[in-house]
Amino acid sequence: MKVAVLGAAGGIGQALSLLLKTQLPAGSELSLYDVAPVVPGVAVDLSHIPTDVKVEGFGKDDLASALSGADIVLIPAGVPRKPGMDRSDLFNTNAGIVKNLVEACADNCPKACIGVITNPVNTTVAIAAEALKAKGVYDKSKLFGVTTLDVIRSETFVAELKGLSTSNVHVPVIGGHSGTTILPLLSQVKGVDFSDDEIEKLTHRIQNAGTEVVEAKAGGGSATLSMGQAAARFCLSLVSAMKGENVVEYTYVETNSDDARFFSHPVRLGPNGVEEILPYGELSDFEQKAKADMLEGLRGDIKLGEDFVNG
Ligand code: NAD
Ligand code: LMR
Repeated sequence: MKVAVLGAAGGIGQALSLLLKTQLPAGSELSLYDVAPVVPGVAVDLSHIPTDVKVEGFGKDDLASALSGADIVLIPAGVPRKPGMDRSDLFNTNAGIVKNLVEACADNCPKACIGVITNPVNTTVAIAAEALKAKGVYDKSKLFGVTTLDVIRSETFVAELKGLSTSNVHVPVIGGHSGTTILPLLSQVKGVDFSDDEIEKLTHRIQNAGTEVVEAKAGGGSATLSMGQAAARFCLSLVSAMKGENVVEYTYVETNSDDARFFSHPVRLGPNGVEEILPYGELSDFEQKAKADMLEGLRGDIKLGEDFVNG
């Protein structure tokens, strides 16, 4: 199994690479690519950790080698938010970065599963899909927007509020990855009752958790450590699924539903990426209204990405 991290010298990239170095199965390869000159050093640093995962660093002129033979590509390359910005404010810088990197995936590892982390995810996944399509290698089963951070945050916040162990709390989160497009399905959390007021406050907190971190970091970026953990969980689930285990994760994928072209669903993962997109089940009245209210915005985010590639 070869996993490539593009943007590996950044805040997410380094945390994620550390977790993968220590948790990927023995015999795996970890390929670290970044335009920042420190990336070979990050690879050397990680290579001193005694696990059976081989790490190699690739600088800006070496993208093809970084990607060659990759089974999974994770993309956290690009700029993060500062206080006062929305994720959509990152579009101008990050759209081109994601398009170029995904085109290189098409050229060098066309069959790899690609997990897009770079914001705005609602849009960058559509950019990736159209860029792969233009190269004639798009397989919707192999392209994912990584929204696992919304799931782990929801689980943390619910466990905190209800005094539960996080290991016993599972919260479905559907939709997209920004503001109100993030839709936690608190009505489906097993064994926990919420008042209407709790549902409203918790939903709002989950939808604004990224901003909570951006403001706390006060200009120093956005979530990196929790995102590293979230992306590692997603990647390790994909690795397990590729080895034949039955794994379900919530992730932003192309669907055939009427909601939006891309939408986070529970997805059964398998050896070739998406094995089955599962239904997200029944929504409460609150969730139904929240979904109806955000769909137009999400569809607009997606169209922006499609138009970026197709002119
Ligand atoms: P960062 O600035 O710490 O790191 C980004 C890295 O990308 C840097 O090392 C930079 O050199 C590299 N980079 C820039 N252009 C590149 C290119 N063309 N090729 C390869 N590498 C390139 O930022 P970060 O905090 O790691 O965040 C990265 C992205 O992830 C941001 O867009 C952020 O908004 C997003 N993010 C997404 C989620 C999510 O839930 N999906 C969560 C947190 C952050
Ligand atoms: C997050 O949810 O933490 C990320 O999308 C980063 C951000 O800009 O909020």
